[in-house]
Amino acid sequence: MTEFNGGQLFLLKDLKVVRMSEERFKRRIILRAFAINFLVLIYYYGFTEQVKQYRVLEKNLTSDFILPYIKIRSDLFIAPKYGILSCGIRKSMSQLLINIMCLLHNETEFQNQNRSLNDTWMSERVCSHKDTHFHIPQNNVEGIPNLTKFAFIRDPFDRFISFYLHICKNDNGCWNCGDDLRCVVKNVYKSLKSYEKNPDESTSSLVDRHAAPISWNCNFQETLSQYHLIKIGVNYDQRQSAINELTEILKSNGVSDVLITKISNESMFGETFHGTHKTSARRKAEKQVEEDTIVRDYLHKIYFFDYLIFKFDTSHLDMKYQKLIQMMQKFKYNHSGFI
Ligand SMILES: *[C@@H]1O[C@H](CO)[C@@H](O)[C@H](O)[C@H]1NC(C)=O
Ligand SMILES: *[C@@H]1O[C@H](CO)[C@@H](O)[C@H](O)[C@H]1NC(C)=O
Ligand SMILES: *[C@@H]1O[C@H](CO)[C@@H](O)[C@H](O)[C@H]1NC(C)=O
Ligand SMILES: *[C@@H]1O[C@H](CO)[C@@H](O)[C@H](O)[C@H]1NC(C)=O
Ligand SMILES: *[C@@H]1O[C@H](CO)[C@@H](O)[C@H](O)[C@H]1NC(C)=O
Ligand SMILES: *[C@@H]1O[C@H](CO)[C@@H](O)[C@H](O)[C@H]1NC(C)=O
Ligand SMILES: *[C@@H]1O[C@H](CO)[C@@H](O)[C@H](O)[C@H]1NC(C)=O
Repeated sequence: MTEFNGGQLFLLKDLKVVRMSEERFKRRIILRAFAINFLVLIYYYGFTEQVKQYRVLEKNLTSDFILPYIKIRSDLFIAPKYGILSCGIRKSMSQLLINIMCLLHNETEFQNQNRSLNDTWMSERVCSHKDTHFHIPQNNVEGIPNLTKFAFIRDPFDRFISFYLHICKNDNGCWNCGDDLRCVVKNVYKSLKSYEKNPDESTSSLVDRHAAPISWNCNFQETLSQYHLIKIGVNYDQRQSAINELTEILKSNGVSDVLITKISNESMFGETFHGTHKTSARRKAEKQVEEDTIVRDYLHKIYFFDYLIFKFDTSHLDMKYQKLIQMMQKFKYNHSGFI
């Protein structure tokens, strides 16, 4: 089922499946990739202690981690003038992204309507979610050639905390958990597991869409290699470097210097970053995520593959997962192979 090629595993694309839904099929492939890779490990490394250890971890993975690349609805925004498409991942600077894309979509209209990159609301008049020329359905994107695609991505644990503070604590929208973080994370896990088994986009909940792994978004199972992924960090330097990456993309797509300066300046100093200063609620949640082993257990199960696929810094993960990720990277999993 796979071809062994220069130390790299490739999955053949032409496996025939009978009466199996696309998603179940994908799940099979992922599981099979684990199993086959194990044989490759043995081939290279023999039954060393390291391999045995790896095998135990791997077994645990396939049994109860949330799998990557399940499809869930996310928002695509297009600026045809510049050939730029962006995918908005919830709780990853999605509001700023909408504002930037709105500006690029129609600068005149943006200014006529007195919109600003600071806005924290959606307009009904300009760049509405209902405007399919702006908020473009996935199917309509497929026919458009040569789009430059980008998305902001953010450390999964950090992103989860934002989801929790906004949707659960503020809006009281997470089951009957109130602000009980253990209750939230347990229910998120259960809910995503059940979506994973039966990924029907019409049944995804608001909570699912906000808490889903990054790899479930943007149709990444097919499009990952086409995207510029911009990591947004928490401190000033990391933000600056994210904005610089964005600036490069805009520049090579013919956006004017004036507009670029406006975007980078207002993104750096505007409300969006301003508003993310640490509140005491955030500090409290961060501390629990650092210390509460039950919460951490669930978070690792939910977001492990995001750390692997998107190569986030793993230094705040539990040691055994850090080790597993190192092993997987060493054994050459990468996204042109199995991941
Ligand atoms: C694997 O999972 C089992 C049960 O889920 C657990 O008891 C064990 O500690 C796990 N092993 C590792 C290495 O994580
Ligand atoms: C931008 O908005 C203006 C004013 O609403 C409109 O006349 C113009 O056609 C729009 N341009 C594009 C490219 O959609
Ligand atoms: C935009 O702001 C200007 C000046 O503040 C004002 O005259 C105009 O009516 C505003 N336009 C809209 C659409 O709100
Ligand atoms: C898309 O890009 C390719 C290669 O750069 C070019 O040959 C082609 O003409 C472009 N198509 C359009 C519609 O711009
Ligand atoms: C950035 O914006 C501020 C006010 O919004 C302005 O004072 C400053 O000159 C701008 N900087 C640049 C480099 O455009
Ligand atoms: C955006 O917000 C920042 C911080 O509150 C403020 O300094 C800046 O003037 C605002 N810019 C616009 C265009 O409203
Ligand atoms: C993944 O593996 C392929 C094939 O060996 C290699 O060409 C590619 O550079 C690797 N990608 C990364 C991100 O390591």
